[in-house]
Amino acid sequence: MSIALVILAAGKGTRMNSDLPKVLHKIAGAPMLIHAMHSGAALDPARVVIVAGHGFETVKATVAAHDPDATVVLQEEQKGTAHAVDAARAALADFDGDVIVLFGDTPFVRPETLARMAEARGDNAVVVLGFEAADPGKYGRLVMQGKSVEAIVEYADATDEQRTITFCNSGVMLADSKSLFSMISEIEANNAQEEYYLTDVVAIARRRGLSVTAVACDEEETLGINSRLHLADAEEIFQTRARHALLELGVTMQQPATVILSHDTVIGRDTLIEPNVYFGPGVTVESGAHIRAFSHLEGCHVSRGAIVGPYARLRPGAELAEDVRIGNFVEIKNATLDEGAKVNHLSYIGDASVGAAANIGAGTVTCNYDGVMKHKTTIGKGAFIGSDTMLVAPVSVGDGAMTASGSVITEDVPAEALAVARAKQVNKPGLARKLFELLKSKKSKRDKEGQ
Ligand code: UD1
Ligand code: CA
Repeated sequence: MSIALVILAAGKGTRMNSDLPKVLHKIAGAPMLIHAMHSGAALDPARVVIVAGHGFETVKATVAAHDPDATVVLQEEQKGTAHAVDAARAALADFDGDVIVLFGDTPFVRPETLARMAEARGDNAVVVLGFEAADPGKYGRLVMQGKSVEAIVEYADATDEQRTITFCNSGVMLADSKSLFSMISEIEANNAQEEYYLTDVVAIARRRGLSVTAVACDEEETLGINSRLHLADAEEIFQTRARHALLELGVTMQQPATVILSHDTVIGRDTLIEPNVYFGPGVTVESGAHIRAFSHLEGCHVSRGAIVGPYARLRPGAELAEDVRIGNFVEIKNATLDEGAKVNHLSYIGDASVGAAANIGAGTVTCNYDGVMKHKTTIGKGAFIGSDTMLVAPVSVGDGAMTASGSVITEDVPAEALAVARAKQVNKPGLARKLFELLKSKKSKRDKEGQ
């Protein structure tokens, strides 16, 4: 059965108190809407339709960047969840199959849960996803008769008796496309909130003699995000899940709770992550690497056996080959370091390529920016860059070459040459002693005058 994924994301999210549309707030570095799209992607949908309203253009651009095949439709006014699904009607007019509805602000529904819903579809016209709520609050309630869902009653419209029900509606619904849109046409807004409720589909289906069943999931999966507090809770849930997954895969973390991961962080087994490490988006770390404490990584690749940190910063485009060493207070940006290269202390390497086994001394800086443009530095295999060398790019240092400490290198250094680019040292015998005497006598004269 082919399936269309419809994600409702038009709401304003007033309680976020933000200029950004709610569904674009990020969890683990990715907008919550993208997390919802990820969950839905597990069903391998033939179509993806996002219903957007507030911040339409920004939402559309974000979706396009993630999945160019997804359709973003406009729901100009937000008149309820059924009205929102109706906005996808035209986009799915030629679609024959099932529709699954997700909410863009409910990013954690597990792919396995959606798969269970697809299995439960069978002879049921509609499948809804429910959960046992610890505190049912204002969630819609599932009115059950045995295994059959008879209706979903919104809290605002529920009787006192119905409000005692703890089996609640997550908002996720699966139904055949043609009958779903036909039932939506029958929905009216004659309720406490004067909204078109998607949940009314259930009672309509029952009136038509169709069967409706519910699949249950963990309450954690249905966490809807309406405020920054919820966003922080969601981040915590994501981080806990992601850390557990890495531990299961064979990554060691000495203090998992202090390691922050991104939605797409990949770490190989037998890698050791010390406490307080931050992974921004786009990081891959191979097996058997070692990321030491207080390091910050984003958009980079760390190969097998490399050691990074403590206090290292790997920025986008940092590519470390096997057994590379990056030490404390070192920043690497858009630079390739070949096998066994070492940058151990206090350096900036940007827009550069560093050959295998090259050694970059403490305090080295690639001066890559002239105030307008960026330029490249090339350092050859086995080169030795003396401490405090300024490499004024564009510049290259050949294989096996050396630079003297404190050099400002503005011209290419041939292979195996030693470049010395600093003022020549001159020693003046006895002059330090004379200078001390002169200064001391000046000071004592001044002290006397001051009395
Ligand atoms: C909805 C369900 C409720 C369920 C709860 C779970 C209905 C009528 N109620 O209530 O049973 O327990 O979710 O969280 O469906 N949206 C639009 N356009 C609209 C209205 C909503 O795109 O016109 C989007 C919102 O942006 C949001 C989602 O749909 O992502 C849910 O809407 P919301 O108003 O939060 O529904 P609830 O009142 O929470
Ligand atoms: Ca909600």
